[in-house]
Order: sequence, then C-alpha cells, then structure tokens
Amino acid sequence: MAKLPLLAATAVRRINTAAGKPKDTQTPGATTMSQRRPPAPNVAYSDSVPMEDKEEIMDEVYDRLATKYDRVTGMLSFGMNAVWKRRFVHRMQAPPGARLLDVAGGTGEVAKHYLEYQDKVNGDHQSSAHVVDLNAGMLRVGQSRMAGTSWERDRRISFAQGNAEDLVDVADNSVDIYAISAGMHNIPHLDKALSEAFRVVKPGGMYACLEYGHIDTPVLGPVTRWLWDNGLPVVGQVLARDRPAYERLARSVRAFPHQRDFANLIRAAGFQLPGVGYELFEWGMMVAYIGTKPSA
Ligand SMILES: C[S@@+](CC[C@H](N)C(=O)[O-])C[C@H]1O[C@@H](n2cnc3c(N)ncnc32)[C@H](O)[C@@H]1O
Repeated sequence: MAKLPLLAATAVRRINTAAGKPKDTQTPGATTMSQRRPPAPNVAYSDSVPMEDKEEIMDEVYDRLATKYDRVTGMLSFGMNAVWKRRFVHRMQAPPGARLLDVAGGTGEVAKHYLEYQDKVNGDHQSSAHVVDLNAGMLRVGQSRMAGTSWERDRRISFAQGNAEDLVDVADNSVDIYAISAGMHNIPHLDKALSEAFRVVKPGGMYACLEYGHIDTPVLGPVTRWLWDNGLPVVGQVLARDRPAYERLARSVRAFPHQRDFANLIRAAGFQLPGVGYELFEWGMMVAYIGTKPSA
C-alpha cells in the first residue's frame, strides 16, 4: 500500500486559510480575537460572515474548549459519545492495514477507537490514522494523550492542522478511509468538504461520517429540539463555563441538513451509499453515513 504523503507529519503544522493566507497556528489567537469581537453564536452557514472570520471564530471556540471538550461532551451525552464513536468505527468494518484520515478529528478520539478496533478485531498493527483539524489546541490535546503510546512509537498516529474544505497536504486517491465525526456541522461549504473527501479517497475506499441528526419521532423530536435550544446552552455554561459555544453548537446542528438531504449531498459528491444512505443511532441523535467511492 502506497505511503500517504501526509502520514509523515507528526507535528502540528501551519494551515492555509480559505482565503489562501497562511496563518501561524502554533500560537493560538484566542486572546487577540476575543479582544477584537464578541463571540458570535453561529457562523457556519451565515452568508454575512466573511469566510476568514468564520474560521477564526471557529478556531476561537475550540481553543476555549480544547482541554475540556471530551469530558464535557461525554457528560452532555451521558457517556453515549464514546459508545457512538466506537459503534461508528465498527460499522466501517475496516480491513487490516487501512489508513484512516480523521478529518475535523479534534483530539483524535475517532482515530483512537479506530486503532483499538484494528488491534483488537483484526489483530492488525500496520494500520494507521492521521488526524487533521483546523484548531491547534484540540490537536495538542490529542497529541499529548497519544504521547508514549505504542501507536505513537510505531508511527501509526499523526496529527496535522488543516481545513476540511481544502486538504492541501493530502494527495489525490491516497486515503483508504475518510472519517469525519461531529465535524460537518461546523463546515460552511459542505459541497467543498465533500468534493475534497472524494478527491482524497482511493477508488474503492470509504467515506464515513458521523453527525448529529434530526429526530423525526413524535414527541421525542420536539422535546429533543427544545432541550438543544434551551437546555444545552445552560448545561454548557455550567459544565464548560461557555454558553456561547453551546448556543452556536445548537444552532449549527439545527441548521445542518436533514439526514435524507445530507445523504443526497454525499451521493451528489460521487460516493455510493447503500439503502437509505444512513443509519440512525438512538432515533437520530447521531447519524452514521458509510459510503464508497466507486472503483475506476
Ligand atoms: C465537535 S468537534 C469534533 C471533534 C472530533 N471529531 C470528535 O468527534 O470528537 C469539531 C471539530 O471540527 C473542527 N473544525 C471545524 N471546522 C473545521 C474545518 N473547516 N476543517 C477542519 N476542522 C474543522 C474543530 O476545530 C473541532 O475540533
């Protein structure tokens, strides 16, 4: 299997912003940015916010959350977050040796579950995972957790900064599995991220997305929506001391396409999705989409 050029990267690198301006991401700009403007609650799909600003705002949100992100997400989901990610990885049925690109991978939790799966289910020690994320703070947390593990020693895990809409360091047709978990709702141009996914996945390779869904079940749907809009910001304030970040999360999840429509976007990008195109986890609290890039 050809070596992915990006897998050589073990340190957090510089990023190209959508505007094409390199930005030194080793020095998080949270202080400067928070001095410049008040936190914006939701930016991902707003046409009035310039692209560069969207990335900065997103970066600021995750800089603030990085060290507490996984703990708070675990508490908010009553521990289901880890269950969903593990289930998502199992649904991939990855073959031994496969190289996974974990886009918007944050602290690398999907990558971790993936390597655990390969070790335990396939008894494989050749597979690898590369985590790409916009935010240096999230990547640093992931890197420090992986420090000293056999995965790090064997160079099976690596981290780099990058934008899902423009994966400049990832070669065409070079990835066995493209995974993205709770990342798509942050991305302003879903079509760009999907066409980048299609570009980097090998023919016959996999597109795997786990994303918050829309619950259509009577009673549970409206109750959950109410809790997202009203309860989540309050709990986010209590647990993470960051109400705006959780207001933004609620709004961007609400604005994200329904699973039916998102499955159609994945198909429009060129991937094949079996059946209805998605699997609901817990009535649609999360939705898994597992597709294939057609072989040439
Ligand atoms: C909700 S967290 C999910 C992290 C991880 N995938 C998980 O499931 O735990 C969303 C992540 O998306 C990243 N992100 C947002 N916009 C991005 C973009 N355009 N490209 C790459 N990463 C992005 C954020 O920095 C953040 O780490």
